[in-house]
Amino acid sequence: MSFDRKIKIAPSILSADFANFGQEIQAIEAQGADWVHVDVMDGHFVPNLTFGPPAVKAFRPHVKTVMDVHLMISPVDPYIDAYAEAGADVLTAHIEAGPHIHRTLQAIRGTGMKAGVALNPGTPAEAVSHLLDLTDLICVMTVNPGFGGQKFIDMTAKIRRLREMIGDRPIHIEIDGGVDPTTAPLVAQAGADVLVAGSAVFRGGSVANPDVYGDNIRQIREAAEGVWA
Ligand code: DX5
Ligand code: ZN
Repeated sequence: MSFDRKIKIAPSILSADFANFGQEIQAIEAQGADWVHVDVMDGHFVPNLTFGPPAVKAFRPHVKTVMDVHLMISPVDPYIDAYAEAGADVLTAHIEAGPHIHRTLQAIRGTGMKAGVALNPGTPAEAVSHLLDLTDLICVMTVNPGFGGQKFIDMTAKIRRLREMIGDRPIHIEIDGGVDPTTAPLVAQAGADVLVAGSAVFRGGSVANPDVYGDNIRQIREAAEGVWA
């Protein structure tokens, strides 16, 4: 995985057809997805339940780009090795998920994965100020985690502050929740480079009609890049 700050669209397969993940992943990648975002929920840290390591491992052979695994679970540490074995490229843990995020990020990097830290809407940018040298990605939640299709919460001031704090470090700023062609320019302008989008990518399309995924991805990207009229 090389580092750059170009806009990357990361469809969340939380909005895909749950009976058909392999083909859904292949379809979004063929239609221009840069990364594939996998939302892991435990019914405890968030009030919803999704995939465990065996499911993520089954996705792996279908992902040719970057498998970006967002853990909305607590605790995190007992499961890090399992997600490494499942083939995650980026593993992101929530700062709110436990008292030892510093150790968690070290452990994630120790497996060879990139380490991400996610911030709920109520958590300030300053919470990561002592973690910057342990972090490859900061995920700014623009919804309260747990469900797709929620309304975007404006976190642009937080994104700007993080962008300043990051300076020249090779750290991605990822935005997760309510990203669509209307909100994408706001977060891109504030300094985000990875845009997760679930409902706005999968809306209206299917593996039988994948061009819609392509149109949806293109509209978000062009809006973020400032060329969408
Ligand atoms: C929310 C998840 C998101 C979600 C985004 O808890 O982390 O990745 O799938 O979905 P949309 O784009 O529909 O808000
Ligand atoms: Zn997510």
